[in-house]
Amino acid sequence: MPNFLFEGREVEAEDGESVLGALLRHGADVGHGCKAGACQSCLLRSSGAVPSSAQNGLDETLIERGAFLSCQAGAGDVCDVERLGREVFPRFQATLQECRRVADEVLFLRFDVPGWSAAPGRFVRMVHPSGTVRPYSLATPAWNPPTEAHFHVRLIEGGEMSQALADSQPGDVVELEGPFGKCSYRLVHGNEPILLIGSGTGLAPLYGIATDALHRGHNGPVHLFHGGRTSASLYFRDELSDLAAKYPGFRTTPCADEDVTGDDLTGSPLDHALREHPDLTGYKVYLCGHPMLVKAAQKKCFLAGANLRDIAADPFVPA
Ligand SMILES: Cc1cc2nc3c(=O)[nH]c(=O)nc-3n(C[C@H](O)[C@H](O)[C@H](O)COP(=O)(O)OP(=O)(O)OC[C@H]3O[C@@H](n4cnc5c(N)ncnc54)[C@H](O)[C@@H]3O)c2cc1C
Ligand code: FES
Repeated sequence: MPNFLFEGREVEAEDGESVLGALLRHGADVGHGCKAGACQSCLLRSSGAVPSSAQNGLDETLIERGAFLSCQAGAGDVCDVERLGREVFPRFQATLQECRRVADEVLFLRFDVPGWSAAPGRFVRMVHPSGTVRPYSLATPAWNPPTEAHFHVRLIEGGEMSQALADSQPGDVVELEGPFGKCSYRLVHGNEPILLIGSGTGLAPLYGIATDALHRGHNGPVHLFHGGRTSASLYFRDELSDLAAKYPGFRTTPCADEDVTGDDLTGSPLDHALREHPDLTGYKVYLCGHPMLVKAAQKKCFLAGANLRDIAADPFVPA
């Protein structure tokens, strides 16, 4: 049997079981969410080698510390593992300043977070006082103070975190861990065209990344395709129009599946993006939102010529 040590105690694993699966089966209190490698809630540390597939999307600093995604590592691939300490994951107190609906199903939240600084587009683990933990992407515009954290949260019926946030008031406090992930405007960018494709609250990181690129003086074109179920579900239209008015290199294309109004396009933002940008050679591509859209987009953008290392993606896989 592929056994391993967890904080000094031997854990019996079954053939083919992940490290996370074995730990949860034995009742260990380890964080987890999507179990699909997307949310980084299940990070542990190994003192020995771990498969590189269990470190996909992790920062270099985490990799140097032996961190790995326990849902993506087979129990037989590790020997000696432990939880990551607070020195690796400091938690920041975030005080809610503003909470308002920007569409029927979308909340905009602005927090004040002393000591905090993170690139727009990356994601954090938000810890609610009730104990619920969920990942959310940073939508903070690049020109705002670094100690602000903005989020766009889709309200899910019966959703633990989104409903708790909907009931919160200015002055309420949550904690933030992170930031995580690689969805951010990379300083190594030259002036390549940037294509951003997302659905629903996938706009949060894409908006943050677009502001970062433009604010840093990115000279190449930046085109954002935002999709939703209906035209009414598409939010932040004024903010996107303001961006287009201020930066001539920026364009946005709203797309909806049904009840389409005005100049919005009918259909998927991915299809429209590829129709308008059929050759993605040399592009930097960002994909965020519904997991099915993101997965399809990763494949199609690669087939359209984008280099795999130039595609950054955050699928919003539920816990
Ligand atoms: C890297 C990453 C970044 C993310 N960033 C954002 C973000 O910026 N904004 C945002 O709104 N969300 C984001 N998410 C998703 C978010 O973490 C939560 O999954 C989501 O808010 C639901 O949490 P909840 O506690 O309200 O619902 P839960 O209590 O987790 O779920 C309640 C029920 O609803 C189902 N459910 C969950 N999500 C959906 C959905 N989208 N559609 C239909 N059913 C669903 C669940 O399977 C469950 O049955 C991100 C996820 C990841 C992995
Ligand atoms: S539970 Fe492992 S990455 Fe989400």
